[in-house]
Amino acid sequence: MKRTTPAPLSVWRTLNIDEFLIGAPHYPEHVDESYWQRDAERMAAAGFNTVRLGEFAWHILEPSEGTLDFSLFDRAIEVLGAHGIKTIFCTPTATPPRWLTSTYPEVLRVDENGRVAIHGSRQHADTNSPVFRMHSRRITQALADHYRDNPHIIGWQTDNELNTTVSTSYSEATEREFRRYLRDRYKDIAALNFAWGGNFWATAYDNFDQITAPKQHNPGFPAPAHVQDYHRFLAHATAAFQHDQVEILRAANPDWFIFHNLGRLEDIDFRGQFGQDLDFLGFDIYPMLYDEMRRTGGHAATQALHLDVCRAYSGNFIVPEQASGFGSQPGFSTMTPEPGEMRRMALSSVARGADGLMFFRWRPAHYGAEIYWMGIIDHDDVPRRRYEEARQFAADITRIKRDLLGTTVRMDVGIAGADFDNQEAYRTYPMGLPSPFEDAVHLHRHCYSSGIACGFIHPEDDLSRIKLLYVPHWVMWKPEWDAKVEEFIKNGGTAVFGAMTATRDVNNHIPTSRAPGGVLSKLCGVRVEELGRVAEPGAGGLFGLMGTEFGLHNPASQLPSSSAARRYKFVLGNREHEAAHLYEILETDADVETLGKWSNRFASGRAMVTSRKVGAGRAVYLGTYLTESLVEGLADHLFTGAGVAPIVPGLPAGVEATIREAADRTLLFVLNTNGDRVEVSSLPAGIDLLSGKEVDGPLSLDPYGCAVIQHQA
Ligand code: GAL
Repeated sequence: MKRTTPAPLSVWRTLNIDEFLIGAPHYPEHVDESYWQRDAERMAAAGFNTVRLGEFAWHILEPSEGTLDFSLFDRAIEVLGAHGIKTIFCTPTATPPRWLTSTYPEVLRVDENGRVAIHGSRQHADTNSPVFRMHSRRITQALADHYRDNPHIIGWQTDNELNTTVSTSYSEATEREFRRYLRDRYKDIAALNFAWGGNFWATAYDNFDQITAPKQHNPGFPAPAHVQDYHRFLAHATAAFQHDQVEILRAANPDWFIFHNLGRLEDIDFRGQFGQDLDFLGFDIYPMLYDEMRRTGGHAATQALHLDVCRAYSGNFIVPEQASGFGSQPGFSTMTPEPGEMRRMALSSVARGADGLMFFRWRPAHYGAEIYWMGIIDHDDVPRRRYEEARQFAADITRIKRDLLGTTVRMDVGIAGADFDNQEAYRTYPMGLPSPFEDAVHLHRHCYSSGIACGFIHPEDDLSRIKLLYVPHWVMWKPEWDAKVEEFIKNGGTAVFGAMTATRDVNNHIPTSRAPGGVLSKLCGVRVEELGRVAEPGAGGLFGLMGTEFGLHNPASQLPSSSAARRYKFVLGNREHEAAHLYEILETDADVETLGKWSNRFASGRAMVTSRKVGAGRAVYLGTYLTESLVEGLADHLFTGAGVAPIVPGLPAGVEATIREAADRTLLFVLNTNGDRVEVSSLPAGIDLLSGKEVDGPLSLDPYGCAVIQHQA
């Protein structure tokens, strides 16, 4: 395997290694050594080339302070290596051993209510703690020194799903580091008081030592800028924690690749230092872990959504953990992939940008908090259907990898994503309204089910390859994005800006000028005269639960419906729609076309969806949030003009179509997420690389059947 220097972060970036990594996270420490030889033989027979080891093994690597013992892993790596299986090793900092938490109890996380984490699960140590960081550097250095010349080790994973169990901390160390961060950021307490709005509710401080981390409902709501800075600090501290490890590993062996496996995406700015330090991102994907039926329409759509969100940070990625079978922890269990579905889910990841994939996990644990998290091999050491599907997937990859590596995922519709400040700005002041992500899901879901190439993209990325950009209410629009977006539109792109976009500055202050700010008013030719709430269909009038943790949207279905609720409607084309969440009343310039108008109550007749020609493209403004029916209306009005069309027309329900392409080749993935056979018509002529058969027009796909069609030139 050869590694080259990674290109700058972009959704269009391909992987900088020349091998498709395929295998499993593996825990040789969980079984008797007599299993190891057979495990390695079976992995090789399945076509695996990589395992990931060691992320929870600090207690084995350093059984007491300063005593290092890598012999178990040395032997395991050797047995695997002898069968052609390379190792990704992990820094084991997600589970510091008991001697460490006993001797240095100050490293334990503290929650919002002052409860100190106990030893006994994972992610109990506070990555903000300088003492913990010192130990993290120490164990990383020891591992780097020991393995720097080991030919079987090809790369590293930092920690494991940082911030997934919990991302916040209120320990003494965190409070101290937070104050240090603020001192660096503001220098002068007057600057902080201005940014945080100290004249509101007497929240001004005399000096930095008086500042504490914000706590919800203690007793009221803290200032948005205070909350925003706390989360900026957590992201900064998480990146610094990882940076320590990256520096050590890079110095030890510059040929190693380094990545992190993303879990819950909490308090990490992946496009900041955190992502810039890495070769690529890893994204753990458990499609059945999230019950998002209501929002996305099922686990296949959820998987597509999560992968598209992830790709926006830095382009193609690897999947270090992909669900293989039934999964559970004591508090929950997931649905179980049916025969053929594990392979289909793996190919869905590849279709959306995975250039490496490992099935979680090689064999299940016999003890601990994940005894029913199945692996490729069963508890009784028998390889059954999951082993067979893993083998089949490895064979699929062998057939396609020469054409696959170096391609990117086509995206005609790009949803603005991957922006840490906007995600957090929403969370400082959610008001019971959907987040930008929740708003965007309507559009993603529509594109997903119609076979339109869709994904997420940051506005500072290369927009020239997309046709339509949707910006869901990003309140913190930055002036440095203006020129990029203007150029995109002038060159023929269609940009659609949702209500509330560009309405706050970096401190969450509302400017004195009329919304929308930045270049948006000029491009769209609109100004917002008034905004207000709209009850969601079927819900009453008051939104936002006082006791709800920030960041959680309050679903309308939990609220009492009330016949007195005010419904606002609008007309787009010849169809009347019911609005949800928010209305804005717009003043428009003379050269602006009104595509949609409010159609009842006091707003009747006022502009709601507007469009203005700018160069070869157009700037569309939307005075409300998305709903399913509004997305359909927008698709009818905008997609054809923007040049957006399904990749495969008339796609049957539950069939995914995605394109991975490079200048000289196109791979069309057609994947059946249904448990029934389907007929797909109108496929372009080509060869299905998986079956080797010619395709021209119709194709019959088995339950969970997959095809990867290479077009003939
Ligand atoms: C991931 C985690 C793994 C394992 C898996 C199944 O989030 O990285 O260690 O816990 O989930 O629960």
